[in-house]
Amino acid sequence: MNVPLFEPWISKKDIKQMISVLKKPQLTDGPILRKLELEFSKFVGSKYAIGVSNGTSALQLSLMSIGINNGDEVIIPDMTFVATANAVINCGAKPILADIDHTMNISAQSIEKVITKKTKAVIPVHFAGFSCEMDQILEISKRKKIDIVEDCAHSLGTYYKKKHVGTLGKTGCFSFYPTKNITSIEGGMVITNSQKIAQKVESLRNHGLTKDLLQRNVNTKPWVYDIKKPGYNYRLDELRSSLAMSQLFRINDIAKRRINAAKYYAEKLKDQKGIEIVNLKNIDHHVFHLFIIRIKNGFGISRDQVHEKLFKKGIKTTVHYKPLHLFSYLKERKGNKKFYNSTNAYKECITLPLFPTITKKQQDYVIHTLLQLQK
Ligand SMILES: Cc1ncc(COP(=O)(O)O)c(C=O)c1O
Repeated sequence: MNVPLFEPWISKKDIKQMISVLKKPQLTDGPILRKLELEFSKFVGSKYAIGVSNGTSALQLSLMSIGINNGDEVIIPDMTFVATANAVINCGAKPILADIDHTMNISAQSIEKVITKKTKAVIPVHFAGFSCEMDQILEISKRKKIDIVEDCAHSLGTYYKKKHVGTLGKTGCFSFYPTKNITSIEGGMVITNSQKIAQKVESLRNHGLTKDLLQRNVNTKPWVYDIKKPGYNYRLDELRSSLAMSQLFRINDIAKRRINAAKYYAEKLKDQKGIEIVNLKNIDHHVFHLFIIRIKNGFGISRDQVHEKLFKKGIKTTVHYKPLHLFSYLKERKGNKKFYNSTNAYKECITLPLFPTITKKQQDYVIHTLLQLQK
């Protein structure tokens, strides 16, 4: 049997919606994007939502819109996808790495340790679908006067004390990459409660224009607009917006399927020697973008061996992620810091196949094959 790490779930309705868009007169910067933004803001409970080309541009435009500039420092977790660091660098700022805790999220103590006079913001990443300890981070942000931009790429549907993640900082940034909780293939979203930030993001995603296409088309002179600051082409077109919206309408079903599959793995793997399930204690507050276990010494073989042996049996696994301080271009950011937790996580963690349409049969095969490897 073959079990992929991830399988996209594009329904017949998704496809129908997308095909209908191709017959419309406006293919980008149009009414479907506006509707998606409205529905998204309703779902997460934010005042504004601005669709952009991907999660990385959502982060970059958020940082630029809160005033991050050349030479500023932005604290990010060592354990995240490299996009979090790149977005900071794309603004001319410096990513400052902080260690994680046992939940795989950035630790408040590590943030405190790396704050300097140049620190302007922190980006908590709600890793794998579990929220960071936001009360502690909000307290630091208030005391040290640093802004929070939340990286919610993994966490559509994740709540912290009844608030959707992304609504606690200045902005929240979502990715609609194919493996994420909903997809537009490539795409992203910025959410915020600040009208000023929303307007800046809107303008920056569209070359810095003060008016978007819809606003210009109601005018008899669509060429009349201003550009106060140059921007980018980070727009989300109508086709992708329609896919994201179709998926957003079944987000509860998608989330339920992921959670049920994760709970099934957890039930079967929780008492097994040498296996530790990341965030088992937090299982009821998790949307499981990823299902991660740690292979401890007691398992008998190493994490790498587990990956290789499962691969040979047709089961795809991976590691989320290689810590940032190990990448050549970020090595200088390490200094004499130790990153004890992210380094250990990198040695032990393995991500098992998980996607909304995974079957019990596939999961049983993964569980059975994994347990057979134990020595
Ligand atoms: C934690 C994290 N942040 C940011 C991103 C960037 O999202 P995108 O790939 O849509 O640019 C990703 C995506 O893979 C991610 O996993």
